[in-house]
Amino acid sequence: ERADALPRDLTGRRVVITAGGTREPLDPVRFLGNRSSGKQGYALARVAAQRGAQVTLIAGNTIELAPPAAVDLVHITTADQLKTAVDKHALGADAVIMAAAVADFRPTHVAAAKIKKGADEPDVIPLTKNEDILAGLVHARTEGRLTDTAIVGFAAETGDDNGDVLTHARAKLARKGCDLLVVNAVGEGKAFEVDTNDGWLLGADGTEQALDHGSKALLASRVLDALVPLLR
Ligand code: CTP
Ligand code: CA
Repeated sequence: ERADALPRDLTGRRVVITAGGTREPLDPVRFLGNRSSGKQGYALARVAAQRGAQVTLIAGNTIELAPPAAVDLVHITTADQLKTAVDKHALGADAVIMAAAVADFRPTHVAAAKIKKGADEPDVIPLTKNEDILAGLVHARTEGRLTDTAIVGFAAETGDDNGDVLTHARAKLARKGCDLLVVNAVGEGKAFEVDTNDGWLLGADGTEQALDHGSKALLASRVLDALVPLLR
């Protein structure tokens, strides 16, 4: 979609978007990370700005991506840094869109010096769970510390023995308590590090919409179309 053909339906709105993946340090040269490229979050930020929003893009490990025009860009590395930045910028925002792939766990101990082969080489990496930023936003809204902020989550799912992609996604929406969940089917060359995406949009009101396979910009438009009616 051409920028000049986009609606200006986010004019006057402040939108916080997270993108990319977090990295959890293990020692000064190593980290636990994930394969999120940040492209979907960047597309959301670009399109939201084109639709008139004042956008803060909080990005993890996306240095290779061109910054979207007219967007405030904040770089973070770890999940803890992402949480601090989100909590700060979410206050008073009209919407928060959590497109970032947040590490669920971090190494419990970060070695001050590079871990070496030899006498005391490790065979396990103890992990500590990171705080759930999205759940924290929902909780803050429930408690009235965050008012009138629409909250959008993302879920990358594969089917497994316990259910298919949609079954897992419906359960995740209920568990997270956000207003909208963008579901991507992942695996077999889908979603990560590619320019296209497909999946579903699940609303807290029970609405379910298939997202046709298309560019990440097109998917961004569909997500924002679904977000606009949720804004207070
Ligand atoms: N998320 C978050 N903070 C975390 C983990 C995830 O805010 N510590 C957000 C993601 O940005 C995404 C949503 O929660 O918007 C769903 O992430 P996902 O990893 O699919 O959900 P989890 O609850 O971590 O469940 P799973 O065990 O399937 O990874
Ligand atoms: Ca997770």
